[in-house]
Amino acid sequence: MTIIVTGGAGFIGSNFIFHMMEAHPDYRIICLDKLTYAGNLSTLAPVLDKENFRFVKADICDREAVYTLFEEEKPDIVVNFAAESHVDRSIEDPGVFLQTNVLGTGVMMDACRKYGITRYHQVSTDEVYGDLPLDRPDLFFTEETPIHTSSPYSASKAAADLLVLAYHRTFGLPVTISRCSNNYGPYHFPEKLIPLMIANCLAEKPLPVYGEGLNVRDWLYVTDHCRAIDLIIHNGRVGEVYNIGGHNEMRNIDIVRLICQQLGKSEDLITYVTDRKGHDMRYAIDPAKIHAELGWLPETKFADGLKKTIQWYLDNRDWWEPIISGEYRDYYKKMYENR
Ligand code: NAD
Ligand code: TYD
Repeated sequence: MTIIVTGGAGFIGSNFIFHMMEAHPDYRIICLDKLTYAGNLSTLAPVLDKENFRFVKADICDREAVYTLFEEEKPDIVVNFAAESHVDRSIEDPGVFLQTNVLGTGVMMDACRKYGITRYHQVSTDEVYGDLPLDRPDLFFTEETPIHTSSPYSASKAAADLLVLAYHRTFGLPVTISRCSNNYGPYHFPEKLIPLMIANCLAEKPLPVYGEGLNVRDWLYVTDHCRAIDLIIHNGRVGEVYNIGGHNEMRNIDIVRLICQQLGKSEDLITYVTDRKGHDMRYAIDPAKIHAELGWLPETKFADGLKKTIQWYLDNRDWWEPIISGEYRDYYKKMYENR
């Protein structure tokens, strides 16, 4: 079995590659990644020298490069993680989100049609469903919840999902889609909530909480997401969407407080800053379908996952410190100075 994993030098893609190399040592895994600001080849150091692994630096929008790779590798399965993934950046500059998330998805599927595959899997997000009100804790996103996006990021992911379903219906491409809630864990880029707060806390810098910090996200440890995708690509039904989430809703402010407590830092570092434009209030996944059909359940409890994650950032400063001292510094200044 040969699998192309796009975006495998990013947060979830790299964790997925590690999971697959361990769970299926007989598979050949090819990572195709453009190495944008969010991609980091050093993350893949533990597998780079393995015989059944290959890294290819390319853009999923580059049709020629993608077709050449398919000709060389004749993949059975393609899992598309490659995307621009940060909501705040999509508000600043939506163009590249349309390019990679929509057009890139189209190129990957064209290659799948041309060369033939047994499965194309699109890694999507619960953000395509928009948000839920805080005063209706009885409501959850199911696979039937209408698409109702808020940010250029989520709109680009929703557009890609519709294109994937269209390629299934029109061309019979054997696709599946997963829509997961917020992930956390090792190799999470420090522009996202949890790693940003850990890094700032350690440096005793202000902890910028948007608005009142009451927004709710449904957090899932990254390896639970990877196991779910593994199950879907092998046993999921073609043409189907699967929601992935572990019923772990947390308010942003409570997460930031927990991080302060665990690092022994003062909550006085918490600084309320101007809210994100169009900020989604609450995400909450109903994972009943993937549980009933594929037997998936999350394994890592949030308290354990957060502890493991904080410990990972303490033990792996050489991974994230160079990131926050490089060009990311300009990004941080632009987004947070005078906010
Ligand atoms: P990330 O930003 O950490 O990584 C994205 C990776 O894609 C990087 O390695 C980057 O170099 C690569 N990439 C970007 N543009 C590319 C292009 N044009 N060609 C090839 N490679 C390119 O993202 P992540 O958090 O790991 O998310 C991965 C996927 O999972 C995304 O599709 C995202 O929408 C989805 N998702 C993320 C979350 C989450 O909480 N992070 C939740 C649900 C779904
Ligand atoms: P984020 O990690 O960007 O993920 P998403 O927007 O895809 O859910 O943000 C998670 C939540 O944390 C979201 O409600 C925005 C909030 N947030 C802050 O309050 N401060 C920050 O500095 C960041 C990056 C996010």
